Amino acid sequence: MMERVTLGPVLFTAEAISARVKEVGAEINRFYLARGEPQREVVLVNVLKGGFIFLADLVRCLEIPVVVDFLAISGYGDRGTSAGVRILKDLSEGIRGKEVLVVEDIVDTGLTLSYILRNLEARGPESLRVCTFLDRAVKRIVPVEVHHRCFEVGEEFVVGYGLDYRQKWRNLPHVRVLRGERAQVAG
Ligand code: IMP
Repeated sequence: MMERVTLGPVLFTAEAISARVKEVGAEINRFYLARGEPQREVVLVNVLKGGFIFLADLVRCLEIPVVVDFLAISGYGDRGTSAGVRILKDLSEGIRGKEVLVVEDIVDTGLTLSYILRNLEARGPESLRVCTFLDRAVKRIVPVEVHHRCFEVGEEFVVGYGLDYRQKWRNLPHVRVLRGERAQVAG
């Protein structure tokens, strides 16, 4: 079938994103600073590929000691369960006893994140928290706790600032709605 997708209106401008990422960065600084001295290192676990731009901006707003690591996982397809999800690229370091903050592009159904959280929890981190650029709570299937979020979005599929449609439009500096018919995709 021919795809007829086009870029729709801008939902969040580059300026609005930049301002909000700074606020969320400050929120994260406050949380970990309040955990007291000595300041412990926070492992930022970035979920590829959609989260890479958010991570790059967020990390520059953080004043606490951080290291970054990356995780890539397969999509869950159309089945609506996380049964088919698997790790394509694992973390390069262990996280036992560490403060871990998962940095996501968007939490939609929550299937991907719940799989990631279960998987990381089993590795025995000291703490495990979640920061997401976008949160689409209206589509949640699995309840997951999101500790820090930049923006809430509605049902419309969005692209830009790292988020793609079939690997396209990640490079947009803003977030836009995608218009038209599209195949079911995740990633
Ligand atoms: P989940 O439904 O919460 O498991 O989300 C899975 C993944 O689908 C997210 O990490 C995104 O990569 C992708 N995704 C969900 N909604 C959108 C969207 O509106 N635009 C681009 N990617 C999306």
